[in-house]
Amino acid sequence: MPVLYTPGSDRTMLHLHFAPDTDITKGLAPEALKMFQFEWNIYHKLVRANEMHHREIGQLLRDEIGRRFDRPFAFLDLACGDASLAQTVLQDSKVATYEGLDLSRPALQCAARVMKDVPHDVELAEEDMVEGIVSRPASANFIWCGYSIHHLQRAQKQKMLSAIRNALKPGGVFVCAEPVCLPGETRADYTRRWQKELRHRFRSLTDAEYDHLWQHISTHDFPETPEDWLAMGETAGFTSSREIFRFPGDLFCAAFLYEK
Ligand SMILES: C[S@@+](CC[C@H](N)C(=O)[O-])C[C@H]1O[C@@H](n2cnc3c(N)ncnc32)[C@H](O)[C@@H]1O
Repeated sequence: MPVLYTPGSDRTMLHLHFAPDTDITKGLAPEALKMFQFEWNIYHKLVRANEMHHREIGQLLRDEIGRRFDRPFAFLDLACGDASLAQTVLQDSKVATYEGLDLSRPALQCAARVMKDVPHDVELAEEDMVEGIVSRPASANFIWCGYSIHHLQRAQKQKMLSAIRNALKPGGVFVCAEPVCLPGETRADYTRRWQKELRHRFRSLTDAEYDHLWQHISTHDFPETPEDWLAMGETAGFTSSREIFRFPGDLFCAAFLYEK
């Protein structure tokens, strides 16, 4: 696996690992590559406008970290995107190592820029989070995954939560933010409920960008009820699972905290 090495400061290192067999510039047709980068830009606009509530969730993560870790700790960011949430959250914390996994090379390149001056070690890897989590037993004190597990089907989500518990050190914590639906609501009901409403909420997007995003949501998003997100944590063997944040308005997304 080729490694691009960039010194962060005298004491810290930043490594960016690209998987050779997923070189998107070789694997994708130019139109597909353009679409891939376009999608990342759309998501970035939502984040910048706080339309996915990263600020509120970031504050909750910061509070949990401040309460729990007065000694060096390892932070693992699954499907890290550009790592901007973690970069903010970890400022002034006792973090020793940050590791971010993502399948998107443009996102990882942004993450390398975002993390280039931080005073702790950084590992960024172009890696599937489902495979990546299984290969990291007892490796992290804090695991965060933002808006990415909901692409998996229910049985895979359950497996993922079990693997995440296994990847935590004793006393470790996992937080995720994910789409949620109402009890008894089918995926068709969920998409019908949200198509128009989200257009109002995602004001930062143009119509073309929204149409593209909606295509993604209506094809790839598989929400669960808050109760089911918590029940999956219990089945995975976490000692406690609780909802820590819910988007304002009706059920769209929520954040959950699981303790090993
Ligand atoms: C909606 S973005 C979330 C980014 C970031 N976690 C956040 O909260 O802003 C979803 C991210 O998940 C990544 N992703 C999706 N499936 C993945 C997988 N199986 N393994 C690794 N990354 C994945 C995408 O490349 C994208 O960066």
